[in-house]
Amino acid sequence: MQDFIRLKSLLSVVLKSGLPAKGYFRVGLFLLAALIVQQSTGWQWTLLTGLQDDNTYKLTTGFGLLALILYQWRFSVKRAQGEQRKAATMMGRHKLFGALFPLFFLSHSQILGYGYLGILSLTLLLAFLTGLFNFQIVTIHKSWYRPAWISAHVGLSMALLLLMAYHVYIDYAFK
Ligand code: HEM
Ligand code: HEM
Repeated sequence: MQDFIRLKSLLSVVLKSGLPAKGYFRVGLFLLAALIVQQSTGWQWTLLTGLQDDNTYKLTTGFGLLALILYQWRFSVKRAQGEQRKAATMMGRHKLFGALFPLFFLSHSQILGYGYLGILSLTLLLAFLTGLFNFQIVTIHKSWYRPAWISAHVGLSMALLLLMAYHVYIDYAFK
C-alpha cells in the first residue's frame, strides 16, 4: 500500500514538473530497444494476443492511440493560441506520453503489419524517434539543424494523421 502511495506521488510530480530532458530520452530508448527485441524474436505475450483477437479491444486501443496522437498535437494548438504558460506544462506531458509510445503501440498490436499498416507503424515509430532525438538531446550548433528537425518531426506527425484516417476507413468504417 505504501509503495502504491509513493508511486502515485512520484507520478503526480512527474506529470506536474516533468523529468529532465535526458530522462525521457532514456525511457524512450529503453522501450524502443525492448520493442526491437520483441519484433526480431517474434515473441508475443499470450494474454495480450488473446485480448487483441477481440475486435472491441482493437477498436478501444485504436481510439486510445488516436486520442493520444491528437493530444500530442494539442500543445502546438495552445502555443498558436498564445497560451505560453499552459504550453510549457503540456510540453512535459508531450515528451512523457511521446516516450511511452512503444508501450501504447504494443497494447494495440504486437506486429508492425504489412503493406500500408507497416508504413503506418513505421511512421509512428519515426515520429517517436525524431521526438526522442530532439534539439535538447542532440546539440548540433548549425542554423539548419532546428528547422530540419522540426520539419521532420511535424511532417511525420502529419503523415501519421493521414495514414491513421486511412486505417480507420479501411479497417473499421468500411466493415
Ligand atoms: C498510429 C496509430 C495506429 C497504428 C500504428 C495501428 C496499427 C495497427 C496494426 C499494425 C494492426 C494489425 C494488427 C494485426 O493484424 O494483429 C491494426 C489493426 C487494427 N486497428 Fe490499428 N493502428 C492505429 C490506430 C488505429 C485506430 C485509430 C483505430 C480505430 C479506431 C484502429 C483500429 C484497428 C482495428 C479495428 C484493427 C483490426 C483490423 C482487422 O483485424 O482486420 N487502429 N492496427
Ligand atoms: C509519436 C509521438 C509524437 C507525436 C505525434 C509528436 C508530435 C509533435 C507535434 C505535432 C509537434 C508540434 C510542433 C510545433 O507546433 O512546434 C511536436 C513538437 C515537439 N515534440 Fe513531439 N511528437 C511525438 C513524440 C515526441 C517525443 C517522444 C519527444 C521527446 C521526448 C518529442 C519532443 C518534441 C519537442 C521538444 C517539440 C517542440 C519543438 C518546438 O519547441 O518547437 N515529441 N511534436
